[in-house]
Amino acid sequence: MRASLEYPTAVVDQEYRQLLFSPSQAMLLHAGAQTIAACGGTEQAGAVARACVAALHLYRRLDPRQQALLQDYADGRLAVLEFQGLHPFDNRPPPLRLPALRALQNYPCCRLLAARNQVLLHLAQHRAFAFDLDNGGRLVRFVGNFRGGGQQARPGETAATPVELSSHAGLALGPHTEAPYHCALQPRDGHSPAPSALILSARWNPLLEPTCIIPMAPVIERLSTRTALALTSPSFDYSRSDSFVAGSGAAGRGVSILQFDPNGGFALRYNSYRFSLNTQAGAAAADALEKLTAAVNASTVIRCVLTPCSAVLINNYRALHCRDIVRDNRRLLIRLFGYSRFITPIVMSEDPLIVKG
Ligand SMILES: [Fe+2]
Repeated sequence: MRASLEYPTAVVDQEYRQLLFSPSQAMLLHAGAQTIAACGGTEQAGAVARACVAALHLYRRLDPRQQALLQDYADGRLAVLEFQGLHPFDNRPPPLRLPALRALQNYPCCRLLAARNQVLLHLAQHRAFAFDLDNGGRLVRFVGNFRGGGQQARPGETAATPVELSSHAGLALGPHTEAPYHCALQPRDGHSPAPSALILSARWNPLLEPTCIIPMAPVIERLSTRTALALTSPSFDYSRSDSFVAGSGAAGRGVSILQFDPNGGFALRYNSYRFSLNTQAGAAAADALEKLTAAVNASTVIRCVLTPCSAVLINNYRALHCRDIVRDNRRLLIRLFGYSRFITPIVMSEDPLIVKG
């Protein structure tokens, strides 16, 4: 589902594709996810091998057009790949309230959705991972309003309740790529690169609230050469992410926003509510940040309405994502990070894959 088209449709269509599974393909994917979930889920050792096998079985059942689409994504040529036609594994209505985070970690349906996301990552030649300093070192992120700040107050929430700016709260989140922001593509100063991708599916989304995605190739192509060049200079600072483990991670200084990527053309690190101009930055960088902000605000937004029958794979180097305030507190998305085959992170644990953030 798309809206606010300011750029020619063809340009955005080059960045956004849908892959529709047939019922038999969807069943095969479901069976592969069940195998992972039955062995304890994505966080367990052995899940990587099971996801590889499940993805290979499924890949062999795809037609050449579907395989070509996946190759386009795997090679870094797409900003968004939306999977449709996934198996409707559970038609029960959503609960009256969002369960506690700790309880959700043991819900079979959540394990299954996370496992399915993991297989889809492998299908696109990516592997699921977690940063040691983010999300408690867990691969599966539950994106929902656990901390307040949504349109409806949570039980016990008052105006004085402190609300964090993260995917565990209900606040609107402006356009951003996923942290950390030290580097993309190559490790730097002991830090692994930012995620290549994130994949999201919905467990519950009663009001069909969209996930908004901004492909950045059309935006960058509209900037002047001078502006794009200034964005590659180490002229920008960022504030610490609220999803980092207490005591870990920090704000950063003197990073670039844009860099050359031999595989995708460019890689972006940017967060509209965390990035600012470094005090040492020159006038060209100041002007570039202003122009980028204006261009993002005027950009085409793709609105993906996630359900249990769909998933969206977002290229984190090539697209920003954002969302409005959460309107129904039962909305729950399941997110995994993925690294492409081009990335060599600093590995802390191979299986499950945990990398140094
Ligand atoms: Fe995000």
